[in-house]
Amino acid sequence: MGHFRPNEAVLFFLLLLFLPFCHGIRSLSRLTTGGAVEELEISHLRRFSEAPDYRNGAGCPAPAVGEFTSVCDSSAVHIAMTLDSEYLRGSIAAVHSVLKHASCPGNIFFHFIAAEFDTASPRLLSQLVRSTFPSLSFKVHIFREDAVINLISSSIRQALENPLNYARNYLGDILDSCVDRVIYLDSDLVLVDDVYKLWNVTLNGARVIGAPEYCHANFTNYFTNSFWSDSVLSLVFSGRRPCYFNTGVMVMDMVRWREGNYRRKIEDWMEIQRKKRIYELGSLPPFLLVFGGDVEPIDHRWNQHGLGGDNVMGSCRPLHPGPVSLLHWSGKGKPWVRLDAKKPCPLDHLWVPYDLFNSK
Ligand SMILES: *[C@@H]1O[C@H](CO)[C@@H](O)[C@H](O)[C@H]1NC(C)=O
Ligand SMILES: *[C@@H]1O[C@H](CO)[C@@H](O)[C@H](O)[C@H]1NC(C)=O
Repeated sequence: MGHFRPNEAVLFFLLLLFLPFCHGIRSLSRLTTGGAVEELEISHLRRFSEAPDYRNGAGCPAPAVGEFTSVCDSSAVHIAMTLDSEYLRGSIAAVHSVLKHASCPGNIFFHFIAAEFDTASPRLLSQLVRSTFPSLSFKVHIFREDAVINLISSSIRQALENPLNYARNYLGDILDSCVDRVIYLDSDLVLVDDVYKLWNVTLNGARVIGAPEYCHANFTNYFTNSFWSDSVLSLVFSGRRPCYFNTGVMVMDMVRWREGNYRRKIEDWMEIQRKKRIYELGSLPPFLLVFGGDVEPIDHRWNQHGLGGDNVMGSCRPLHPGPVSLLHWSGKGKPWVRLDAKKPCPLDHLWVPYDLFNSK
């Protein structure tokens, strides 16, 4: 799908196309990652307000041609994020937060990865992003779920997992070849600081990715006994001191990624997992296996994670000590769900200023 810039005729056509659809299908059930059945109103897709217009200041590089930043523009800051009906409200808030705090919002280029068979079509999602952010430079890439579905091991937990969680493994293939660096962001976070500070980090040596590392977390627990007791497999970490990192915020060097064929390296571990249970979680452990101990450590302020709480009902998490540039509601609870249920955690109120959903 190309750079989406509808004129009025296209808009009218889209309305004609989707109106009967909206009325015909009031709601659809969808399995969430947690396994609960959630009601999704397709008509809700239309209920986002237009974001304020964030424009470049005087010191910002001008786009090479026209009003929009093109994908191969050397001044573009690339951000990749998934876009689906389930986390849509979170994604929209995340985009809003990036633009609001960026020193040059007009130079940011968003790459949205949408699933081929989402209940909201990639075309409808593009339309929604365009109406919410009229001057945003973006592209919607379609993720073909069959690329990964056969690789996801068959345990029940993983069968319920959204294949889009694996889209980050395929960025080297999905993104245009001129994109040589990208920031990957989850959809359940907001930035409260300038994304250029994150964009500008140096990946030292031959490092492919950068992310905040958590070396006090017990790394043993991310893998099963059958992994640690396998004398060949567990050798993967020999000579490295691996630490846990969260894959929801990563700076990725796409040149090194493509050259090193890291997609294949991740897939190789997923193949091993299919034959032999070496971990319990889904998309995270292959990243730990490939990159653990070889990650550029980025300041912890760039991923204050865990704000979704653990799986205990109603648990709220405080911030970790130290400064905050990014708030991440990883874990079971999401701020929009808790706010709608009138049971917000204290930190959920920090998410509200970025929410563009019109609940009236
Ligand atoms: C990021 O780097 C660019 C190019 O070197 C520089 O112009 C800009 O001021 C930097 N921005 C921040 C926030 O560090
Ligand atoms: C990490 O967890 C494993 C297994 O639960 C345990 O045997 C080990 O002692 C723990 N290591 C540390 C440093 O706490």
